[in-house]
Amino acid sequence: MFKSLFLILGLLATFSLHATAQQCGRTCKFRLCRADGSDFNLRPKGTRILLRAPKTSLSAYLCRKFPGGRSLGRVRSTGEAIISGKFPPVAISKWRPAGLSPKFSKRYFKLINILYLGGLQGIGRIQPKGNQEDFLDDKCVVLPITTYDIVDGSGKVFRTISSTGPKDCVAVKTRVQPIVVELTWSSEDDFDLSVTGPSGSKSFSNNDNVVGQCGVVPVVPAGKETVTYDDPKNGKYNVNVKHFNSCKGEKTNWTLRLVVNGVTVLTRKGRSSSGGGRVVGEEDFFYP
Ligand SMILES: *[C@@H]1O[C@H](CO)[C@@H](O)[C@H](O)[C@H]1NC(C)=O
Repeated sequence: MFKSLFLILGLLATFSLHATAQQCGRTCKFRLCRADGSDFNLRPKGTRILLRAPKTSLSAYLCRKFPGGRSLGRVRSTGEAIISGKFPPVAISKWRPAGLSPKFSKRYFKLINILYLGGLQGIGRIQPKGNQEDFLDDKCVVLPITTYDIVDGSGKVFRTISSTGPKDCVAVKTRVQPIVVELTWSSEDDFDLSVTGPSGSKSFSNNDNVVGQCGVVPVVPAGKETVTYDDPKNGKYNVNVKHFNSCKGEKTNWTLRLVVNGVTVLTRKGRSSSGGGRVVGEEDFFYP
């Protein structure tokens, strides 16, 4: 009787240890927040993000709450990312999965300013080389935040912290797609991105949009939409950018990027105040 009880307790303990080890970035205190600034939109640890155009970021922004109403200011430095999956955590430059060539650099993952978000920083990466992109899907990435400012309510630096502790990190799970078409713009207006591919191709809209709504407080300062293909068919694709709704008739800047296997193959920028669902940008491309 006691023996079997201990056996069960033992099994339960093993199971929960295992479950804990599985949580991506369990100790990390930094999180990702959505651009509307609402605390309710704090993403859970290890939230899954789509890897996008290299040297850019369109993730939610890095955030952390501190006592006394203080918050995170500028992050001054980050460390080498620790990557894990169906293998134990390893520094990304030491990671040697079979077939990977070339190995990753220490600085592959880092923080990058998010376009149109006034210096807020999100998760980004440099351009993949060789077959690196083939290894990046569904991995846990823990990025150490090694030097950062804590600011008070008026944005003044209260303290600068340097740390290599296990809590000073942010963790995400990665998602990689062979075709990523991403649009982002500089106001709370609503834009619409649509992509039509060759017959048989199936597109997905990314669900981390912050869609603009006029006059809703807190104001969403910038928007984004993304269309991806996980099994792209060969042929012609057509991309349409519509200025769906203009809140104040003011000019909004927009940037469209086409990313194929982690490499930006097309960037278009525009300015529009038209609203009313007008097409403000159109591009054709061929895959592969
Ligand atoms: C929009 O673009 C114009 C001209 O390129 C620039 O002067 C302006 O600062 C930009 N505004 C925003 C909010 O990005």
